Amino acid sequence: MFPLDFPLGILRRRASRRDRVLDPFCGRGTTNFAARLLGLESWGIDSNPVAGAITSAKLVRTTPAAVVQEAKSMIEDYRRPEIPNGEFWSRAYHPDVLRSLCSLRAGLLERRSSMTRRALRAIVLGALHGPLQKTFPSYFSNQCPRTYAPKPAYAIRYWRKHRMMPPNLDVLAIIQRRADRYYNGNLPEGSGDVILGDSRDPAAFAASGPFQWVITSPPYYGLRTYLQDQWLRNWFLGGPDTVDYSTPGQLSHSSAESFADQLRQVWENAAGVCRDGATLVIRFGGISDRNADPREVLAQSLHRTAWRLTRVNNAGHARHGRRQADAFLPVLSRPSTEHDFWACLG
Ligand SMILES: C[S@@+](CC[C@H](N)C(=O)[O-])C[C@H]1O[C@@H](n2cnc3c(N)ncnc32)[C@H](O)[C@@H]1O
Repeated sequence: MFPLDFPLGILRRRASRRDRVLDPFCGRGTTNFAARLLGLESWGIDSNPVAGAITSAKLVRTTPAAVVQEAKSMIEDYRRPEIPNGEFWSRAYHPDVLRSLCSLRAGLLERRSSMTRRALRAIVLGALHGPLQKTFPSYFSNQCPRTYAPKPAYAIRYWRKHRMMPPNLDVLAIIQRRADRYYNGNLPEGSGDVILGDSRDPAAFAASGPFQWVITSPPYYGLRTYLQDQWLRNWFLGGPDTVDYSTPGQLSHSSAESFADQLRQVWENAAGVCRDGATLVIRFGGISDRNADPREVLAQSLHRTAWRLTRVNNAGHARHGRRQADAFLPVLSRPSTEHDFWACLG
């Protein structure tokens, strides 16, 4: 994620009241949420269903009471849900907690989407795994990372070694606390939508526009585990109960040239739904075990498009927990400096 201040600062200083905003790699919807805070319409595109579900919840209006009531009725109505089995599942979740999660999963898959259900879905996704807490629990799982789901074999070894069993938790209380945090305020009405699609495909842009702003952060060259890292959240959205290593709809990282070509296609697609004079702002970095210079990859991707690169700002190094590269540090080496690329259409 990039920090909320990044898109919010740009839009607050420079956007007009009727401007529309697009993020073709919307991730968790930071750009969309910033637009909403300013009362602007925004659209997001992402090929990862987890990203789509989280972003769409950032555009809804509901109340904590409605979210908790919805959760309660699903847990009561879906009493015999399908429950995955095996050591990973029995060590990841207390049996009662897992049953409630499976009831919520079944209800959310079966009942038609509504604003409240979108909010509930994202709240459960956010609470699905994370660290154990001493006071008020915030996550449903045994000890886990919060940002990515551990691979089952690794997690089982870790829980066995540390003799950790999953706690029995009050699922509704966790939902209530999160709903209070996210839906108690007086947010402006959210308008716009999220498309679950591949932004290399012009069809993903068809329903939206025209836009004055595109503010985005594509996957950094070399970071390509967005889907498998979210396998547990993807299971909750109807996916398999095992890690799926395929990467449908994700940019391919086979070479810097092909990566730049794919980005070029996205910028061209975005240009097709933007007004003349629109602004494109891209935050981009890389990881140091790739030889390619991220600045060159990005400049290359804008070359021969309808966008004119106007400036490049140094956005500093990734700081703890704030930038996308951080989550991968133990696995993939150090992040490089990030840059903000500004371009103008026409
Ligand atoms: C760096 S993240 C975006 C983070 C976002 N700025 C935020 O604050 O949450 C990049 C996103 O691009 C998505 N992505 C990768 N390839 C894509 C493609 N071909 N089409 C659409 N989205 C894609 C990934 O699923 C991921 O969510």
